[in-house]
Amino acid sequence: MTGAFAPSQILFGGDWSPEQWDAATWDEDLDLMREARVNTVTLGVFSWSSLEPTEGAFVTDWLDEVLERLTAAGIGFFLATPTASPPPWFTRAHPDALPVRPDGTRLTHGSRDTYAISAPAYREAARRIARRLAERYGDHPGLRGWHLHNEYGTLDHGPHAETAFRAWLETRYGTIEALNAAWSTAFWSQGCASFAEITPPRATQYLPNPSQAIDFRRFSSDEMLAAMVEQREEIRAAGSTAPVTTNFMLPTWNHLEQWSWAAQEDVVSLDHYLDTDGPDAEAHVAYGSDLARSWSGGPWVLMEQNATGIRVDGRTLAKGAERMIRHCLGYIARGSQSSLFFQWRQSAGGAEQWHGALVPHAGGRSRVFESVATLGGLLERLAPVTAPPAEGPLVRAEVGILWHADGWWALETPDLPSSHLSYSAEVRATHRSFWRAGIPTDFVPPLGDLSAHRLLVVPAHYPVSDEEVAWLEEYVEGGGELVVTYLSGLADEHLRIATGGYPGRLRDLLGVRGQELLPLPDGERHRLSDGSEIQEWTELLETEGADVLATYTHGDLAGRPAITRARRGAGGAVYVSAGWTQESRDRRLEALASALGIGPTLPGAAAAGLEAVRRRGDGADHLFLLHHGERPLTVRAPGDDLLTGASAREGLRIAPGGATVLSLAPDAPVELLQD
Ligand code: GLA
Repeated sequence: MTGAFAPSQILFGGDWSPEQWDAATWDEDLDLMREARVNTVTLGVFSWSSLEPTEGAFVTDWLDEVLERLTAAGIGFFLATPTASPPPWFTRAHPDALPVRPDGTRLTHGSRDTYAISAPAYREAARRIARRLAERYGDHPGLRGWHLHNEYGTLDHGPHAETAFRAWLETRYGTIEALNAAWSTAFWSQGCASFAEITPPRATQYLPNPSQAIDFRRFSSDEMLAAMVEQREEIRAAGSTAPVTTNFMLPTWNHLEQWSWAAQEDVVSLDHYLDTDGPDAEAHVAYGSDLARSWSGGPWVLMEQNATGIRVDGRTLAKGAERMIRHCLGYIARGSQSSLFFQWRQSAGGAEQWHGALVPHAGGRSRVFESVATLGGLLERLAPVTAPPAEGPLVRAEVGILWHADGWWALETPDLPSSHLSYSAEVRATHRSFWRAGIPTDFVPPLGDLSAHRLLVVPAHYPVSDEEVAWLEEYVEGGGELVVTYLSGLADEHLRIATGGYPGRLRDLLGVRGQELLPLPDGERHRLSDGSEIQEWTELLETEGADVLATYTHGDLAGRPAITRARRGAGGAVYVSAGWTQESRDRRLEALASALGIGPTLPGAAAAGLEAVRRRGDGADHLFLLHHGERPLTVRAPGDDLLTGASAREGLRIAPGGATVLSLAPDAPVELLQD
């Protein structure tokens, strides 16, 4: 990552696909963009067959014309490399470059992402078109950045992947003996005599080897990253210095190890699609944003969201204009430099013709477009927010939450003691607790810098390496407060259980020894001695130096330790062996933070439904107040609302559903007045 991505205004707009429309519609689009104050579009995401209709023959006059018109309208653009959707000629010429599923089915052409990431022909074609686009448009004054590919994440289990996987493993392990040991191949007679015997995890008779499975996920992430870096290098070799990004995708699937990817990008970008229309949607906006800001280490770009709908259980439910605007402000509060959407104009044909857009099928004369124009007006007033602070973080957070794809992938291996556990659900539940308490959080990578974080929570991080053990020990010895929740530290990075008592990797640090992991049946709930309610998970635990904070009260676990704390050096290490319900998790984590003197951004706000985020800027703080609650509220602060110009000095009323962005002197006090 090089320097902070700091445009002079909030980037507003979305994916524009002029290749799907005639020139009259382009003109109408540009008029509507001006009306809505759109300043940025993303071009080219799925334009490969329009740019290179036959192999090696490039047609760019239509894009030249589009860029001319955009430039005349004063609108900038991200230019995508269109490599997520190879055209039919590519498939016909290189059938070996189609992806293969674990069951051996080779997918056929007909959708998008029909490529095998390790296929040499694919990589070459992708490099070629990236180079070509960079040579032609790399120094265009309207170019805001390169959007490489689109949502990397297509796994391939075919022969090309096999060759590349073997090479990756050879680099990782050096010798086949080391691999055999790491993968525990003595079990079920899986010992390999050479790397040539290794395959990607494919459909097999019964359970696959978990170590092989997680290594394949790591390999696939690295392989896709190598493909992205190749594109970036082509672009740089063509002389283009524009920032480079690729859009990550949350929350349903996760095939990338984002920390290593972020290190290869100039700015992180995220596509964020909500998975609930209930009150948790707001917590989800905060979760995606905090992840993106943490990965980026500063400002980031919201590359896609849906303007109108939330897809839940096969139905597209309305988001509503006010809520859409509040969400946009929520992303910006937590570091986004943009409000970009998929997509500008709703497609009239093709697979995603029912996906929401800024210009709906009904056209510009519509309630949706009116709300889009309102949003554009508001975003223009937020230009001062984009300048990052001269030093320090964008959002100050004293709570860190460990996040790593290894934890996600480990819990996706088969036949764990419970298959009703999900890494993302655990991490989200942890983040949600702090969000509900109004306490800011960062995500941190294993071995990351913890100097800003007085409290670190490690949820469900199953594999833990020697280096990570030492890193956590050092944190606690140095005065940090660590909270480790169940499922963390059970295995090493190869998913080999650390024996002698659970959670073996962290036993010494936590001062406990677990003998049995005891998942609970669905719906069964119990209380701990401290009143907290638990579900899903219990353990037979004893202490080895730790103090007991709460005991179980049910069955034959009654009286035995459930939550413990070991004092180590200047800090403490809490172990939570049971699955808290969300409400209990909320109360306990808030209490732990508060015992350390870590409080909310604006006391009293969260309980009233007011989300408060202080985004630090250049010489000013911007306090975003997003009212998700039901009663009007009043805040008093020595500053003005950027959205309306109103002063908050004598008190500023925020209506339910409304939002305010106060511009304040750094660290200026703010009060929530009680009505
Ligand atoms: C993703 C893709 C877009 C589009 C949307 C639909 O984010 O990047 O191309 O398919 O999903 O939600």
